[in-house]
Amino acid sequence: MDRTDKEESRRHFLKAIGADAAALLLPVALVRPAFGQVCAPPGNTSNPTPWVRDCRSIQARRPASTLTGSEITKLKAAYKAMRDLATSDPADPRGFLHQTHIHCHNCGGGGSTIQVHFGDRFLPWHRAYLYFHEKILGTLIGDMNFRLPYWDWENPAHRTMPSAYTSPNNSTNPLFNSPRSMGPGDTLDPTDGQPATALSETNFADFSPELEGSPHGSIHNAVGGDMSFFDTAAKDPIFYAHHANVDKLWSDWTKADASHTAPTTAAWLNQTQGFFDENKKWRTIRNADVVDHEAKLRYIYAGRTWEYITWLCLRDWVLVDRLQVLDASRIQLTQAGRQKLLPMIGKSETRLRLISPQLPQNRSASYFLYYDERDAKANRGPESPSYLGLVSVVLMSKDGSQKMGQPRKLDFDLKGKLKGLADRSAEFSFFLVEKTQKGPNAAVSKLPVRGVEILRGQEA
Ligand code: C2O
Repeated sequence: MDRTDKEESRRHFLKAIGADAAALLLPVALVRPAFGQVCAPPGNTSNPTPWVRDCRSIQARRPASTLTGSEITKLKAAYKAMRDLATSDPADPRGFLHQTHIHCHNCGGGGSTIQVHFGDRFLPWHRAYLYFHEKILGTLIGDMNFRLPYWDWENPAHRTMPSAYTSPNNSTNPLFNSPRSMGPGDTLDPTDGQPATALSETNFADFSPELEGSPHGSIHNAVGGDMSFFDTAAKDPIFYAHHANVDKLWSDWTKADASHTAPTTAAWLNQTQGFFDENKKWRTIRNADVVDHEAKLRYIYAGRTWEYITWLCLRDWVLVDRLQVLDASRIQLTQAGRQKLLPMIGKSETRLRLISPQLPQNRSASYFLYYDERDAKANRGPESPSYLGLVSVVLMSKDGSQKMGQPRKLDFDLKGKLKGLADRSAEFSFFLVEKTQKGPNAAVSKLPVRGVEILRGQEA
């Protein structure tokens, strides 16, 4: 069976057992041995010791593109030491290969049932992962003031990969990774790395999936190679600078408004994640311990996202209308719904929320989303009247043997688009086109959804 055939039979299977049941089973039941061979568990994890307080001095993580020569030398020395350790002592959990396996293992690899993506542990887990990784790097070069750099891809001046990672662009550079498709001369498309919609969310449950889908996923795909699949992503050193930026955006969002808090349920706060520390000890750390990264994890971020991004200061997003979903891909705005939208045109911040979009799972890719088929075929991107935004799919593994989870919801800014949408009197659908496909006859696929909502921003 080739991949398409496998996909087909999987789809029939999912249909047969019912989509809801399938959603419940996805993280666990579809793990196959082939996928498990990609990574081993990160080591002996049977005796966890709880994380204890960190007394390093508080230091700043800085933009990778602005590091000084000696900071770059230090960063490269740290990754070189980590790579060397993987060769000199393959059993040492601090070696580079084991570090990459931690990520793989936590997205269902190696037969594990842990899945840290597509849910509310995405942000705390990756924060803790980087924290332990950073302390190991610091230990290996004998400098506990070492902090990871971040790739601030939302900054228009930093759309190329930070040069430390590409210069020299070969394996003499410990920050280089050969499978990348993004090269030193390449620049991110402006639609990649746009966090404004995520940053304008008013609560964590909306912020986290919005940040995770795109920009997070779109940068994985834009870098390409190992980064396009969660089981191999951490093999590329740019992964850690990418995730430091994702972590910074969480930090920025938290600082922007007192109401922007992490979840407060005991279940979330007490959820623990396990990592090897800089002394090879297996530690567990609770979500509650990572919320305040400055006081507890001893780093801050230099630079503010709001220097480059305009984001809205809103109290809340309130539901205005729920569109009719006739079947998963036929959507209808009712006459009553239209009446509610008309007064908001040009007056209110509005957004479209797709509930449980069923993203394609045949490849890792970023897609432009449209609500008009002709526009989709022409695929002109943001300048098209029915363009809604970017949707990113990052698969678990290249062989497609494990299915990704689906986002619970995705939000799209309707600035300048509400009138066009309100004018739709007939049924319509949502369409995805791979962003790299140029028109005029791009391959278009319908995006099935469970629900569609129009939200209005409530001013503070
Ligand atoms: Cu755990 Cu960006 O992925």
